[in-house]
Amino acid sequence: MDLKKLLDSLTLEEKIGQLTMIAPHFFLDSSKTWIAGPLAELGISEDEVFLAGSVLGIGNAEEMIEVQKRYLEKSRHKIPLIFMADIIHGYETIFPVPLALASSFNDEILFQAARVSAKEAKASGIHATFSPMVDLVRDPRWGRVVESYGEDPYMLYRFANVQVKAYQGRSIKHEGFLASCVKHFAAYGLAEGGKDYNTVDLSRLNLHQYYLKGYKGAIDAKAKLVMTSFNIFEGIPATTNQYLLKEVLRKKWKFKGTIISDYASLKETISHGTEESEYSAAVSGVKAGLNIEMATALYMKNLKDAVKNGDVSIEEIDELVMSVLKLKEESGLFENPFIGANPEKEKRLIHSKAHIEKAYNAAVESMILLKNNHRVLPIRHYQKVALIGPYTNNPKINGPWSWHGDRHVNQTLYEAFKKSFRLVYSDDSFDSNIEKLKSSDVIVMAMGESQKESGEAHSKSNIKLDEQQIAYIKRIKALTGKPIVLVLFNGRPLDLSDVVNHVDAILEAYFPGTMGSKAIAHLLSGKQNPSGKLTMSFPRSVGQVPIYYNHLNTGRPYASGGEYVSHYLDLEEKPLFPFGYGLSYSNFKYENVQLSSDKMKLNETLTISVDITNDSYVQGKEVVQLYLRDHVAKVSRPVKELINFKKIDLAPNETKKVIFEITKKDLEYYDHNLNLRVDPGKFSLFIGPNSEELIEKEFILE
Ligand code: BGC
Repeated sequence: MDLKKLLDSLTLEEKIGQLTMIAPHFFLDSSKTWIAGPLAELGISEDEVFLAGSVLGIGNAEEMIEVQKRYLEKSRHKIPLIFMADIIHGYETIFPVPLALASSFNDEILFQAARVSAKEAKASGIHATFSPMVDLVRDPRWGRVVESYGEDPYMLYRFANVQVKAYQGRSIKHEGFLASCVKHFAAYGLAEGGKDYNTVDLSRLNLHQYYLKGYKGAIDAKAKLVMTSFNIFEGIPATTNQYLLKEVLRKKWKFKGTIISDYASLKETISHGTEESEYSAAVSGVKAGLNIEMATALYMKNLKDAVKNGDVSIEEIDELVMSVLKLKEESGLFENPFIGANPEKEKRLIHSKAHIEKAYNAAVESMILLKNNHRVLPIRHYQKVALIGPYTNNPKINGPWSWHGDRHVNQTLYEAFKKSFRLVYSDDSFDSNIEKLKSSDVIVMAMGESQKESGEAHSKSNIKLDEQQIAYIKRIKALTGKPIVLVLFNGRPLDLSDVVNHVDAILEAYFPGTMGSKAIAHLLSGKQNPSGKLTMSFPRSVGQVPIYYNHLNTGRPYASGGEYVSHYLDLEEKPLFPFGYGLSYSNFKYENVQLSSDKMKLNETLTISVDITNDSYVQGKEVVQLYLRDHVAKVSRPVKELINFKKIDLAPNETKKVIFEITKKDLEYYDHNLNLRVDPGKFSLFIGPNSEELIEKEFILE
């Protein structure tokens, strides 16, 4: 396809149309209420709808085919629509939420989640997914932490890279692959006070040092699209921010793909107070290089005038349009406008045996055993089990952004428990029969937040369990004295300090998706062995937020002791559960940590090795974590930073040697002039099962 020729054949209105994304209903519904309602709000005519170039979300393959047909019938230029949607942790087969998926610390699990998502979504006619979301998150009050991989930049980079490759494959044209749109560029996760859409204020240094790393992971994997964020950076909304979009993304990173706004974020620049009108916002969008405006029609309504007035040049418009045409060509839409959409295949793939199995494996590896006193878990086959709490019969465990996933196919915990345990009692009333509970050997309490308590615009100032649940846990423990296993469903780190001492074991399930209940039953019964580790610190109190393991040392670190140190008077210094933490039924021993040398030259590779022994009778998986500290640099550096990890599988009593290589790249950081650099001097490497229990080795960079 000669895209230049195609571009030249378009009228200005048609070009501008390619830069606009609207919902599918606009093409389907022509009733009066519709025209007076949402269409009027959009401010364009029914005919203008058919100039739009892309579609946000679609019901299924049949609907996609219908919309595309109608569009092509009406369209003069016959450039197919491209369909994009939020396929975040599964299309119909729902995987654990991203915060949980990341807790698997397993590249393959993240890869497969993206593969299954892409296969199912592509068969329904979706060509691009608004995933991965790699906003660095340090504040569990923010409802959207559930969509991120967590608080660690290295992990964000690594998993973004894995998932983009899984979505896109070698060509997004190929069956089962689609384009990936990384979001939300940039630093959306730093919303003040964890309140969604709130102000973001950070230095360029920290932007580059920590916040950009996740997006870079996606760009290095050649993500086709980038979505801008709702927040400001340096006072300017990300959607019209030339520093972010032009300087960083286009110039520094050489990003050649398509930039799309977030939902209505171009129009919201007016609320931010950096634009006086829709006209000026549209012009600023073009000046920043924003290719697609999502959900509003500022471009459509204003750019023609802007060109006439000389505020925007036709060359600028052409450049923006070209990128959209290229994306459509790469997606194979010019060869086949219905590419992917296949109702029969869609049915076959959705919830197929292979997909269900992958969702199950992901759920198993994503859950984190936070506590297991006196080895109350696993529950033995002869033990009598009671199951209580609001999640006993609740199948709504898919979590936010599972708009396609049908929760009716989800087993409830009750159904799963019947297959795995001697279930002697169950109810979800907050008024359990105490005598019956007393006749059990173990009480499992299934609790947490509802799906609606996290996600977009769902921030909270209180991150404890609700009062009724806290009181219930205490009451049941006090009245029965039985071992209590708390199973948690939630979309953020919680403050568990009120309940942690009233329960004997805690399994953090987050929102585990389609196969969640079965995975929980199998983990609690010992058929599976927990291996997830936290990717966000769990605070002792909301007052400890933001809390993250890779903090700076400060001039008065707590560890130096004394009164005048950085600390809270009324809280222990450490989080309740640190980054990287998670228990297993196996017992892993870390021994014989060895450095290949205690000196390193810049062009050399240093290796560090450790022997891990599974000192138990159960097979298990362990995440071996490697952290680094640069003791002296031009700018203050974190007390430790994750630089690598490996998840290994160990048979009972087996020992494996794990080896990591360290090169210059691992030692680099940005100085205050934003130059990447490495300085000679002292470094520490730390190896261990979480960010707190570490074995340290020092070396000198010469
Ligand atoms: C969200 C994005 C999402 C978009 C499209 C917005 O409200 O912030 O994450 O991709 O809607 O659904």
